[in-house]
Amino acid sequence: MVVKEAEKGKEAVRVRKASPEDIPEVMRINRLSLPENYTYAFFEMLLKDYPDTFLLAEVESRPVGYIMCRIERIMSKVERFRIRKAGHVISIAVLEGYRRMGIATKLMEEAMRAMRESYRCSETYLEVRVSNEPAIRLYEKLGFVKVDRIMRYYMDGEDAYVMAKPLD
Ligand code: ACO
Ligand code: ZN
Repeated sequence: MVVKEAEKGKEAVRVRKASPEDIPEVMRINRLSLPENYTYAFFEMLLKDYPDTFLLAEVESRPVGYIMCRIERIMSKVERFRIRKAGHVISIAVLEGYRRMGIATKLMEEAMRAMRESYRCSETYLEVRVSNEPAIRLYEKLGFVKVDRIMRYYMDGEDAYVMAKPLD
């Protein structure tokens, strides 16, 4: 039987919680994938404070993707005038050669499960470049909707969409 490459890859994908030793690899994937980069101390803090939503995706034990989040009390983005606990997706990326295999979907689903079960969040949100079609499609497929647009959110002047989704 012929097995499609994508399916073969999918079988081998493992999502697990990151550990401090994974931070250099996470930083490498972040730098290769996004212009928004952060200090070691920032990654370390997110991992220490919110370990259940800091996840690594591996293919045959090689790190190929990550997601990291922060748990916040915010004015709800999906209900009017309510203070809610929300999981803020700070950053997610998958290495170029491993995209369109469902890895980001897996990272998002597992992080959203942990937001709900470990941290009792009732919603999740994130910012994304208005030009970032692949990411916007990914989030829409997961049920996120655009709730706001922030002018010149990024260093280079590009706007961000704020996208949000209830978790209950
Ligand atoms: N074009 C159109 N739709 C896409 C694309 C694309 N290039 N990539 C993903 N999608 C959509 C599709 O609907 C896809 O489902 P399908 O393959 O069945 O059609 C769905 O998203 C799920 O795709 P996944 O395979 O789960 O996503 P992937 O593992 O490829 O990762 C990601 C997507 C994270 C956006 C990846 O392209 C990436 O790392 N890009 C660079 C970094 C980045 O932009 N990160 C997000 C920044 S915003 C933030 O971090 C909050
Ligand atoms: Zn953000």
